[in-house]
Amino acid sequence: MRLREDLADLPPYVPGKLIPGYLKLASNENPFGPGPRAIEAIRSGVLGVHVYPDGAAPELRAALGSRWRLPTEAFILGNGSDEVLTLVTGAYFRPGDNGVTSEHTFSAYEFSVRLFGATMRRAPQRDYVLDLEAILSLVDSRTRAVFLCNPNNPTGTVFSQTELKAFLAKIPASVLVVLDEAYAEFADAPDFPDSRALLDDYPNLLVLRTFSKVYGLASMRVGYGIAAPSIIADLQVVRQPFNVGTLSQAAATAALGDRDFFEKTLANNRQERQRLIEALRGQGFRVLPSQANFIAVQTPCGGQKVFELIRDEGITIRPLGSFGLPDWVRITVGTPEQNGVFLDAWSRAKKKF
Ligand SMILES: Cc1ncc(COP(=O)(O)O)c(C=O)c1O
Repeated sequence: MRLREDLADLPPYVPGKLIPGYLKLASNENPFGPGPRAIEAIRSGVLGVHVYPDGAAPELRAALGSRWRLPTEAFILGNGSDEVLTLVTGAYFRPGDNGVTSEHTFSAYEFSVRLFGATMRRAPQRDYVLDLEAILSLVDSRTRAVFLCNPNNPTGTVFSQTELKAFLAKIPASVLVVLDEAYAEFADAPDFPDSRALLDDYPNLLVLRTFSKVYGLASMRVGYGIAAPSIIADLQVVRQPFNVGTLSQAAATAALGDRDFFEKTLANNRQERQRLIEALRGQGFRVLPSQANFIAVQTPCGGQKVFELIRDEGITIRPLGSFGLPDWVRITVGTPEQNGVFLDAWSRAKKKF
């Protein structure tokens, strides 16, 4: 066997470090764990796991339909939103095609595009914010999709509704715009894009959401895409029949209805994100403005070294070398107690920065 030559230099995904017993602030998970309603749904569904799931996920898609005020046919579920990305590229990309995205963004876009023999183009950012004009300038007749992450992982920065509308008005209708909103629930900026409204106006828009972050279900692997039913029908062609398990569907449906847990998560994030930003800026560190559940911090001695010093304190954070930001680290916003532990550790560690 010989690996395809075009995949030989594909960088492997570097996940946030999981060390048993350590406080993990490395993967932007929900610091409260799963919500009570999701836990109950998993418990009560467990005796049915000998039966294959219904791949059409009728209950969850109906619940999403009423939440978004769209027909069930506007939704596709994935084994995490990661899988929806490969459904997009599997449906639309051939060798010789290209995708366009930004530098310093989520690596799964490039993985998904290259899996099908296509290439990825990356536009530079403007002061750590996606530059939509620069992205547009890289689109050509072989571009099948652009991938926009908003808020962007790992910078936490956002582009506005006005910028996105101007972009959508200019991009050819034949190019799919994948708007990855994995962290959108955490965004509270007044000009943050209203993707629901844009879906009505732009039939080439696909919005990606996930149950891994605010809903606390990262290990259940449920994400979804929202788009015009004709696009969703294309993606259904390349979907594995049983891609999202019964417990995962049940947990996600229950989580969607757990308003209290959702609000508690957002309230904590709003307060604690500000606390972390102020504490680190107060010590003279550059911290990017964040609309997500994590913050990006510039270090004087390299992200990898800071990662190691914080790890020696029993906490994992994310060095951003694999995102092309070797001086930076990303820290997930935790509970008040976790953030207290982190800030104490940071104060001790920074003497060695
Ligand atoms: C921007 C972004 N998109 C998508 C995902 C994938 O999420 P999922 O767990 O739904 O596959 C992540 C996970 O970290 C992410 O940061």
